[in-house]
Amino acid sequence: MQTPRILVFDSGLGGLTVFREIAKAIPDADFAYAADDAGFPYGAWAADNLVWRVVAVMRRLVAETSPDLAVIACNTASTLVLPHLRAAFPHLPFVGTVPAIKPAAERSRSKMISVLATPGTVARDYTRDLIAAFAAHCSVRLVGSENLARLAEDFMHGAAVADEAIAREIAPCFVRDADARTDKVVLACTHYPLLLAQFERLAPWPVEWIDPAPAIARRVVQVLGDRTDLACSGARRDVRPKGPGHAIFTSGARPAPALARILHTFGLNAVDCAPMPVDRQAAR
Ligand code: DGL
Repeated sequence: MQTPRILVFDSGLGGLTVFREIAKAIPDADFAYAADDAGFPYGAWAADNLVWRVVAVMRRLVAETSPDLAVIACNTASTLVLPHLRAAFPHLPFVGTVPAIKPAAERSRSKMISVLATPGTVARDYTRDLIAAFAAHCSVRLVGSENLARLAEDFMHGAAVADEAIAREIAPCFVRDADARTDKVVLACTHYPLLLAQFERLAPWPVEWIDPAPAIARRVVQVLGDRTDLACSGARRDVRPKGPGHAIFTSGARPAPALARILHTFGLNAVDCAPMPVDRQAAR
């Protein structure tokens, strides 16, 4: 049996919130974490250009890492690009990350939920369809944040992020209507759980912040479990946790020491990567 190789992909560092849950569930996998920092942020990209960019970057990453499974740890990409990726790589299983609207609607008592995401994700048909399918009985506030993903990146690079800046971005999630008020907020961008402690502290009232990462990790375990040629967690007790996984940045830049230290806490070492610059002709 061979050790599963898993590629986790995001526009930046947000996918680490998904990666850490997968690494907990399958510690014996070989991991590559890839951030398209040259293309970050994805939230403002025009849809056609984003499809082109993600498929092009994945071509390189798949060729270089030969994964058994790829996780698109990005709502902005998954809500748009998954069918294109599946068509481009018919033999590679993909697990995506999409807004956790179904569990939020099921668990909400007030039936008032908010979806906090990038402007791209809130504009997607995919997101509207999830609401129609699973939350038609709820009042759903879609909040497209221009700045939170960038603030989360700053935080991960060791910069101080002002409370006021975060409070301003999350404020529209909190809605009152007569005696009822929002009780669930879907974290529909993988960057946002990185700021969860601040969200909780700055929230005008307590809500449940719904992070889909544990559910995505369960899905990865399930998909790999269907592969009898791979040794997955629990399948073989003698498989020891691997050494550090590889972190790849499409800018080709080496992470600064503060970020390198954080990556290390996630069990990742940055490796050299030939830059994959964004074609400047591609309007965002
Ligand atoms: N982390 C990404 C997501 O889940 C998006 C951040 C961005 O690039 O704008 O949507």
